[in-house]
Amino acid sequence: MAVETVFILNDREVRAALPTGTALVDFIRDDQRLTGTRVGCREGDCGACTVLLGTPGAQGLRYRAVASCLFPLADAAGCHVVTIEGLNNAGLTPVQQAFVSEGASQCGFCTPGIVVSLTAFLLEDAGLDLDDAVTAIEGNICRCTGYTAIRRALERMLQEVRPQAAVAPDRLAALIAAGVIPAYFAAIPARLKALPATGADKSAKQPKDAVVMAGGTDLYVQRGPELAGRKLDLMSRREGFAAIWPEADRILIGAAATVSDLMESRLLAAAFPPLAGFLRQVSATQVRNRATVGGNIVNASPIGDLSVILLALDAAIGLRREALTRERKLSEFFLDYKKLDLRPGEVAAWVSVPLRRDGVRLHFEKVARRRRQDIASVNSAIGLEMDGERIAAAHVSAGGVAPVPLYLRRASAFLAGRKVTAETVREFIAVAGSEIAPISDVRGAAAYKRALLRRLLFAHFLELFPGRLPAGDLP
Ligand SMILES: Cc1cc2nc3c(=O)[nH]c(=O)nc-3n(C[C@H](O)[C@H](O)[C@H](O)COP(=O)(O)OP(=O)(O)OC[C@H]3O[C@@H](n4cnc5c(N)ncnc54)[C@H](O)[C@@H]3O)c2cc1C
Ligand code: FES
Ligand code: FES
Repeated sequence: MAVETVFILNDREVRAALPTGTALVDFIRDDQRLTGTRVGCREGDCGACTVLLGTPGAQGLRYRAVASCLFPLADAAGCHVVTIEGLNNAGLTPVQQAFVSEGASQCGFCTPGIVVSLTAFLLEDAGLDLDDAVTAIEGNICRCTGYTAIRRALERMLQEVRPQAAVAPDRLAALIAAGVIPAYFAAIPARLKALPATGADKSAKQPKDAVVMAGGTDLYVQRGPELAGRKLDLMSRREGFAAIWPEADRILIGAAATVSDLMESRLLAAAFPPLAGFLRQVSATQVRNRATVGGNIVNASPIGDLSVILLALDAAIGLRREALTRERKLSEFFLDYKKLDLRPGEVAAWVSVPLRRDGVRLHFEKVARRRRQDIASVNSAIGLEMDGERIAAAHVSAGGVAPVPLYLRRASAFLAGRKVTAETVREFIAVAGSEIAPISDVRGAAAYKRALLRRLLFAHFLELFPGRLPAGDLP
């Protein structure tokens, strides 16, 4: 279905009359002939298609790196999309120059995506630290240069840009002065305000055959070619769906809040200090900037990291159909493999996590074939409420060991009222083992996953209660 989508592409206003589900990268390359944005995998894995997405919001215009192969054209409405061509200045930018000076580009296929990712980092990162710069390009794969040269380029880039930009009151202006971004960026906020509203249907009533889409990071991988011709019901465009807000004794997280939104939320950081660190293990920057809570849950992958973490936080899910909302415990929402307690026409509106008076001790463990940009073979989370030395209540979950993200009901109940001792942990792990049914697949043999979960459950206690258990092997 073709609906006009109006946005600013680099320094030009564009009116795209292509079907709304068209992947942004296809519009950029095929329609606009901006071929600096590359296509490597079409699955969010390589970062070659990375573009900057500037979204107006309460805090002004925020720029984030996104994978344009997984991004629906309609979701660009009212935004500023920047490709590598839109970053070019009269000479090389300090980012490009650092790559040339350090020999950090060979065939050059990956370089535009990396430069765009680093520009997003320079626009948004508070401290301009080297580690954060490395994190910013975790989703950009280079097959020929080698990452040592790229790391040197990052150091050089930071030496050049940091003194001018790190403490500047106006980062955008500082980066324009430093030649990192062209001067036309300064006028973009005002130009976006003047755009006509398109593509942004905020009504809850959608055609029955519309595809419910949030970040698209699962949908484009699973159904990419088919999506271009379909009507989309974009969760990100629904009023309040991306918000995170307090309500009485709980925090509500809009279903369209992204992993990055969660990592940046002060509210969540205050309630669950280690959460942002755990969420860093979800994929890489470009995917985290789009992957949503609702998409993770409704996709119902048995190894969804967010689902597993939220189960350990004793979360509930708000399900909405038009004006009606009902609430379910997340632990009761997953029925069987890809089967959910989701009625026709319902969407996930929010997830709530209860706040406990004395806080929750939260821990998450994940084992994947790669440290970043990969989904888990097995993952697990635990949330403990303590009453002095005793566990008052426990919520334990595991992924990759059952057809659903699994709430370990019996193991959670077993821990309640007990002290943390080697014996408690040994018995707890045995109870958990009786609740799982892993299968052998590409991510590991059933026996391996079973052994892995034992280790992860043990690791929760090693991390949360240092020195309490005998060092070395499982108790
Ligand atoms: C390269 C790559 C790496 C990844 N790494 C990880 C990882 O490390 N950990 C991990 O857990 N996942 C990972 N994923 C999977 C994916 O990013 C997550 O599952 C993400 O949270 C999905 O959210 P989304 O908004 O993109 O979902 P979408 O693709 O938009 O939607 C997924 C499903 O949910 C439905 N849906 C979306 N929102 C709603 C709603 N509000 N109500 C009802 N239905 C809805 C859609 O119809 C669709 O069926 C990765 C994906 C990619 C491409
Ligand atoms: S083409 Fe590889 S991430 Fe988009
Ligand atoms: S320079 Fe060739 S892929 Fe990176």
